[in-house]
Amino acid sequence: MTDRAQTLRARIYTALRYTDPSPAGRRWRAIHLSVLCIGLLAVILLSIDELPKPTKYGLRLTIVLVAIVFFVEYVVRLWIAPEAARFDQLSSAMARLHWATSAQGLVGLLAIMPAVMQAGGYGITGSDTASVFCILWILKLGLHAPAFGTLSRVVSNERAPLASVLIIFGIILMIAATAAHMLERVRQPEQFGSLPGAMWWAVVTLTTTGYGDVVPLTVGGRMIGAMLMISGIAVLALMTGVLATGFAQEERRREYLRVWEQVARVPIFASLGVVTLSEIVGKLRTRYYPGRITVVRRGDPGDSMFFISGGEVEVRLPNGGSVRLGDGAFFGEMALLERQPRTASVATTKPTTLLVLYASDFYEIASHIPALAEAVEVEARRRREENLGRQASETKR
Ligand code: CMP
Repeated sequence: MTDRAQTLRARIYTALRYTDPSPAGRRWRAIHLSVLCIGLLAVILLSIDELPKPTKYGLRLTIVLVAIVFFVEYVVRLWIAPEAARFDQLSSAMARLHWATSAQGLVGLLAIMPAVMQAGGYGITGSDTASVFCILWILKLGLHAPAFGTLSRVVSNERAPLASVLIIFGIILMIAATAAHMLERVRQPEQFGSLPGAMWWAVVTLTTTGYGDVVPLTVGGRMIGAMLMISGIAVLALMTGVLATGFAQEERRREYLRVWEQVARVPIFASLGVVTLSEIVGKLRTRYYPGRITVVRRGDPGDSMFFISGGEVEVRLPNGGSVRLGDGAFFGEMALLERQPRTASVATTKPTTLLVLYASDFYEIASHIPALAEAVEVEARRRREENLGRQASETKR
């Protein structure tokens, strides 16, 4: 393949990645999502039989156009598949085969089925198979949800506690269903005469759904029902707790990696050893700010300081002047060191990535790593003197 085609393929690959943060990537995702929504809306509307014929024709045309867009997308994605880093070791053909059999490839293939069926002579009408297939486009929505990856990792990390909760669920369900079956089967043979029937009631009650289609009538049955409802709330609370903790831990791990990448760009951390650095990384948080956003306001209490890992901010000094700080600089330290309100307002001049260090963590780190605290203090002293000098020359004028 020529060099030009290869760079074009690499460029398209970057822009088509669902996680690409560049404006081109975002634009492509917005277009993809709009086409998907239009397609789904058309499929849903087409299922209404009473619609006038011209409207139905328009909807059918829309579906065909959307299917064509997805077909082109599938072909392009198949072409760019060898660019993926995970297929580095494979030949182009094998990379494409791997992509085609991945979840993304299979969803893409299902999405082009309507186009293939149309080409094969099946008409797309409100009730035929081709149109029903279009509902599979909804699977493409999943590709736009990056949290799916996190969710599957959380479920995998927490599989042991989740399995325990499910086992508790199963035990309670079986005991309650058996007890209700024994207590209720004489009065309600139709509903509780068999174990599966009693289990249906137990599932509906344990999940706190309560359709009310099957209700225990004996005193014993009702007591079992009451206990089952309370157990249901406890089991759901357990499940929620396990998942919430798992999400929080996963997010902390991801944040750690994000900060670790950013921290190398801040010179003040460059001289620190790996152990010290890992301690600081655990306390920093990344924040992305668009341009022209005020990060700190003069007079506000200071609860954190910031390191610029990429971008630029403008410090609006009290005397009217301003100073720009770029990559690797820090600000917000004066309020923490002097335990006073912010001395100036600071705003971004362009999209900026900041690493935030909260006051309590700052004081802890300052006591552990005196060299770092010293470097911050020296700069704060210089800034204070600079501001006093500026103020003095201002009053002289
Ligand atoms: P703080 O007072 O917490 O909040 C405003 C921040 O602006 C301040 O900390 C410093 O980090 C920064 N700042 C104040 N004066 C200057 C200056 N002369 N040069 C660079 N930064 C400054």
